[in-house]
Amino acid sequence: MKKKIVIANWKMNYDLHETTFFIRNFLKIIFERKINHNKKIIISPSFPFLYISNQILQGTSLRISAQNVHHMDKGSYTGEVSASMLKSIGISKVILGHSERRGFFFEKNDVLLKKIKISLKYGLKIIFCIGETETERKKDQQFDIIKNQLEKTVFHCSPDEIKLFCIAYEPIWAIGTGKNATYKQAQTMHEFIRYLFLKKYGEYISNQIYILYGGSITDLNAKYFFLQKDIDGGLVGNSSLKMEKFLKIIKS
Ligand code: PGA
Repeated sequence: MKKKIVIANWKMNYDLHETTFFIRNFLKIIFERKINHNKKIIISPSFPFLYISNQILQGTSLRISAQNVHHMDKGSYTGEVSASMLKSIGISKVILGHSERRGFFFEKNDVLLKKIKISLKYGLKIIFCIGETETERKKDQQFDIIKNQLEKTVFHCSPDEIKLFCIAYEPIWAIGTGKNATYKQAQTMHEFIRYLFLKKYGEYISNQIYILYGGSITDLNAKYFFLQKDIDGGLVGNSSLKMEKFLKIIKS
């Protein structure tokens, strides 16, 4: 049995005090209640708090991930953070392709591929997000969209590089909207994504690759998503900001 992965994507929330307070208490509770077994928990705070968060979690099984990285090695890119900078503070994971990055910051597949390549160059593990819009789903284009997003990005990687990936299927219409996909819609898409990996990389990789669901996961619906055959865990936004809700999601 694969361990499930649950990722807390905190986006642009929580200052230094809130971040460290949450992580310290969270650690205490999950060890007291022994609820971290058989799952991998990753927390993704904002850039300024990655280092301290990672320090707090040293020696535990919990991990920290960045929410973004710039696509160039270094240089005159005011306000940006490079893969080598992340590496230098001990960060080994990064979320790429989130629909908020694609939407608000106009990150297209070509830039995302560069981000993938630079992350791999520095050995960062990648949580790569894909998903269709509501209009695309209404037109029944979701499968073509997902296939195209993978073909233009992740599928440019070698089988060895693919071992560093975890895919997050996040229908855009379900992110932060409270309108989650049905369990069946999610499972159908996850099965399709796994099939694409099977065709491209063969059976072993398609079984091994983690495919997480994201989009309005709550403490009430998480367990039904996690019961689906091809759903290996979740990428959680809003509900990961409330400790008790997030703990319930992890327990699910
Ligand atoms: P949400 O966000 O859980 O608030 O819908 C998920 C995400 O953006 O990863």
